[in-house]
Amino acid sequence: MRPSLASGAIAATLLPSLISAQTPYSLDSTAAIKQTASTAVWDMLQYYHGNVTGATPGILPGPPPAGDYYWWEAGAMWGTLIDYWFLTGDSTYNQEIMTAMQFQVGPNQDYMPPNQTASLGNDDQGFWGMSAMLAAENKFPDPPSDKPGWLALAQGVWNTQASPDRHDETCGGGLRWQIPFANNGYNYKNSIANGCFFNIGARLARYTGNDSYAKSAEQTWDWMESVGFIDPNTYAIYDGAHVETNCTDINKAEFSYNNAVWTLGAAYMYNYTGGSDVWKTRLEKLVEHGLSQFFPQGIAVEPACETHDTCTTDMQSFKGYVHRWYATTTKMAPFIRNTILPVLQTSAAAAIKACSGGALGRQCGFVWTNGTYDGKIGVGEQMSVVAATSSLLIDQAPVPVTANAGGTSKGNINAGGNSDNLNRHETPITTGGRAGAGILTALILGSACGLFGWMSIGT
Ligand SMILES: *[C@@H]1O[C@H](CO)[C@@H](O)[C@H](O)[C@H]1NC(C)=O
Ligand SMILES: *[C@@H]1O[C@H](CO)[C@@H](O)[C@H](O)[C@H]1NC(C)=O
Ligand SMILES: *[C@@H]1O[C@H](CO)[C@@H](O)[C@H](O)[C@H]1NC(C)=O
Ligand SMILES: *[C@@H]1O[C@H](CO)[C@@H](O)[C@H](O)[C@H]1NC(C)=O
Ligand SMILES: *[C@@H]1O[C@H](CO)[C@@H](O)[C@H](O)[C@H]1NC(C)=O
Ligand SMILES: *[C@@H]1O[C@H](CO)[C@@H](O)[C@H](O)[C@H]1NC(C)=O
Repeated sequence: MRPSLASGAIAATLLPSLISAQTPYSLDSTAAIKQTASTAVWDMLQYYHGNVTGATPGILPGPPPAGDYYWWEAGAMWGTLIDYWFLTGDSTYNQEIMTAMQFQVGPNQDYMPPNQTASLGNDDQGFWGMSAMLAAENKFPDPPSDKPGWLALAQGVWNTQASPDRHDETCGGGLRWQIPFANNGYNYKNSIANGCFFNIGARLARYTGNDSYAKSAEQTWDWMESVGFIDPNTYAIYDGAHVETNCTDINKAEFSYNNAVWTLGAAYMYNYTGGSDVWKTRLEKLVEHGLSQFFPQGIAVEPACETHDTCTTDMQSFKGYVHRWYATTTKMAPFIRNTILPVLQTSAAAAIKACSGGALGRQCGFVWTNGTYDGKIGVGEQMSVVAATSSLLIDQAPVPVTANAGGTSKGNINAGGNSDNLNRHETPITTGGRAGAGILTALILGSACGLFGWMSIGT
């Protein structure tokens, strides 16, 4: 029998003795975990104003300079809430999630709303697509029949990204970071854009049983290896490279969400292939590398930026994706459960110790290894703690469904087919200030700090 996961007390004793902050949170029982996650969710949603009269549903304040948050992070937040509901059973926010996820689908039901064109990356679209896929897998309530189903939305995202107009010959294939050709970052191919596409493809393969999705996921993996974005020895996943150099100027920065998005996709491929040796090895190596790189003391860190305190708003949300996707990985590949879960437990126990800020003494910070609140606040910090705490309930949660095993989500094999080809060079670009995309901004800020000083960004 599997040891109960509601053993935060045990996990906490494994932590190095750190100066204990006065966090009001506890993970000592299932009830305590649920209570902690529920309070952290409430605090997270105080940043969301899309439900007040006159505001735009689905988005967080932004994009900069209008507010701190790019569009993609809201997509990630709805996914976190879909997992929160799935893991805890708390449906308080389900209507809000439904409204948000449907409002942002865009005219072609593929998460390309025109308001976002000026900084629309394949990764931004992909984050919303992964949340739609999750809604189908978790059996989140289906939308009314006149609205696109969750599966259809994930297929819409995948179809637009699989389309030949998104895959040119530079670097031997692969997706670019940005979708519209005139956006800053159109000349960059990166691991997160391709990782989202891979992840959705692997999950569509398992959900629908259609092998075309799996073949495409295999190709994307092979391309990542051929171009050197996946290190063949360490399985480190590097950030990306520019098309002008045929992707030879690889930016070797490693971010935890890259490891996590590929790990979860590999876990789905492992499961879909009935436990193939190839995917087993890939999954093991990704997890081995991910645990040592991003959990060096059993606590989540973001070394590429945390070490020198240069993490951007985007990066401050990455720890949550690692916790959620590593937790779901244990469902798809039970053999790796005992490697992953103890680490997620120590990490979550450390995370709540960083939650002692703000007027109520429970605002969560970003750095988890210090045993104290570090003064940073935001959606990313709260969302990561929601993810880390609710994911402790993964053993008690059902297995994500498929079309043949409990799934009810309505699909559409042709979804997204009418989308504009935004990278056709004659396509007019929506004005909108080109505030820049989230991760591009991250790279620019990074370069100011010398991390990416060699990079030249431009179209
Ligand atoms: C909007 O959502 C927040 C957070 O869930 C909630 O506190 C507030 O009551 C909601 N407002 C409206 C008008 O629904
Ligand atoms: C796009 O922006 C306009 C103006 O702010 C707003 O009215 C509309 O609801 C937005 N649409 C979406 C899908 O966010
Ligand atoms: C560009 O890179 C791809 C992938 O590494 C490689 O297959 C191709 O031969 C390269 N093309 C040139 C012209 O170097
Ligand atoms: C499988 O998916 C591919 C890609 O969307 C599609 O072209 C094909 O028609 C699908 N096959 C079946 C049997 O649904
Ligand atoms: C695939 O996932 C199911 C559900 O968790 C699990 O029972 C099965 O063992 C997994 N397959 C493999 C090969 O691990
Ligand atoms: C870690 O904690 C110590 C003392 O509690 C404090 O001086 C230091 O600034 C903290 N570091 C971070 C990154 O929060």
